[in-house]
Amino acid sequence: MSIPIYTYDAIVVGAGLAGCAAARELQNAGKKVAVITKLHPLRSHSGAAQGGINAAFSDEDSIELHEFDTVKGSDYLADQDAVEFMCKNAPETIRWAERMGAAFSRTPDGKIAQRPFGGQSSPRACYAKDRTGLTLLQTIYEQAHRAGVKFWDEWYAADIIYKDGKVSGVIAFNIRDMKIAIFNAKSVMFATGGYARSYKINSNAHANTGDGLSIVARHGLPLEDMEFVQFHPSGLSGNGVLISEAARGEGGRLFNSEGERFMEKYAPNAMELASRDVVARAILNEIREGRGVGPRKDAVYIDVTHLGKDLIMERLPELRDLAITFLGLDMIKEPILISATAHYSMGGIPVNIAGNVRKNNDELVEGFYAAGECSCVSVHGANRLGANSVLEALLFGRYVGKTMVKEVDDIKLRVATEDDAKTALEEIDAILANNGSETIPNLRDELQTTMTDNAGAFRTKQTLEIAIAKVKELRTRFKNIRIKDKSKVFNTELQEALEFGHMLDYSAFIVESAIARNESRGAHFREDFDTRNDEEFLKHTMGYMNEDGEITLDYMDVVLGKHELKARTY
Ligand code: FUM
Repeated sequence: MSIPIYTYDAIVVGAGLAGCAAARELQNAGKKVAVITKLHPLRSHSGAAQGGINAAFSDEDSIELHEFDTVKGSDYLADQDAVEFMCKNAPETIRWAERMGAAFSRTPDGKIAQRPFGGQSSPRACYAKDRTGLTLLQTIYEQAHRAGVKFWDEWYAADIIYKDGKVSGVIAFNIRDMKIAIFNAKSVMFATGGYARSYKINSNAHANTGDGLSIVARHGLPLEDMEFVQFHPSGLSGNGVLISEAARGEGGRLFNSEGERFMEKYAPNAMELASRDVVARAILNEIREGRGVGPRKDAVYIDVTHLGKDLIMERLPELRDLAITFLGLDMIKEPILISATAHYSMGGIPVNIAGNVRKNNDELVEGFYAAGECSCVSVHGANRLGANSVLEALLFGRYVGKTMVKEVDDIKLRVATEDDAKTALEEIDAILANNGSETIPNLRDELQTTMTDNAGAFRTKQTLEIAIAKVKELRTRFKNIRIKDKSKVFNTELQEALEFGHMLDYSAFIVESAIARNESRGAHFREDFDTRNDEEFLKHTMGYMNEDGEITLDYMDVVLGKHELKARTY
């Protein structure tokens, strides 16, 4: 079989905000760039971000306060140089997005409107009703398209070409006919999104299977801080679909079955607008202690009825629709049922501020970059503030695109050969040829159940040991799968099998990193070590996977700065 080889200056994998913003920079600088994406770009998960994008530009706010809130929210694990860079450049990013055509909601005097979000000292989240991510994605995709970026839609990136500390391309197949191609390039950027789909209740798109992370890890490259998975306080009860923090930002209140506004107990000052980890654990605690509501008593109420129909229709129309569609409840008239939902991954592919991927604590990989949720720069540390992720994706996506423009001409193209596609082809052939007795939906369900029960918002050594054993068992059983569809036309069963392999890999990182971190910090809450331990654990986890799927851990220093360590209260 002859495999086509396409040659580019740069390949970007993923067409969300980070990927589109980077590709546009490269294209406008005259570089030959293509974006490979397993979805149509407008279905990328950036479009699901609802509530806002942070930037400190009002008279009451400051860059320094934005930095402080972000560092405090991160439970002091964020790298302060990266946080400073992000917060300083946030206002310009908003102005740039607006110039590109993003229609933000406005105040009556015509300024960009900003709403309060959790863990923030000032209303800072700029928004477009409750469709902020979609508005931005439509804008930036349109601009990338207009610039002439080539999009390879519905192409699945299965591997990278990585040799001698250098990345020189991507192996991908066309989902339509499973035909494989080699994308040979001087530089590659991953903007492949997050990995919350390894949890049963999550707010993520079906596509968020962490492919990029596992592809990287399979080459022996590290993943950073994988134990930090964010549980958003408000997912629709039963399916986890996001009910934006904007609902609380606009004044929504949480109640338990006894009619108590229970956040008074957990965060008496910030109440419903404490940081996400604090509110999510409070909700889950109310449910665990028997004060849940709904038919299964596994939810709490969020009530926005006091805001009135006009405000809800003006600022939260999407949320209202979602609650009507999925729960049959109209938030204009009644409280709706929500609970915590796996939402975001703070950990990911380690990068420096410029976006270069780290080979280890001291070295970088030549020609390889990452930005957005798949990366760990680390601006979120142990817990991300709401509305900082859209900012991170857009700001770092654009900036990493600029880095690539600067560096690409100094990188010598390593010419690819058909042999570079061998591993990807073997993986696909092995899945098609296998005639075992296990099915992917069953295995995936078992993985999601064990991750939710044992590596969720509350964890102990004992539960994590159960999760580790289960992930190992599933890895063995995965070798004995059978997919029914052996065709080469839109074989989603084959794609799901590949994706499940990725889910197993990064889940192993989550649980192994979590069991080694004997403390509680941000979203990582160990009931058996329920306080932060700066003495031993003020450090980033760096995990490495060997060919048998075993993980070893190393650690990397946190970049500290002017925001001194303090106890975190809200
Ligand atoms: O609640 C939300 O609107 C989510 C925003 C975010 O995760 O940043």
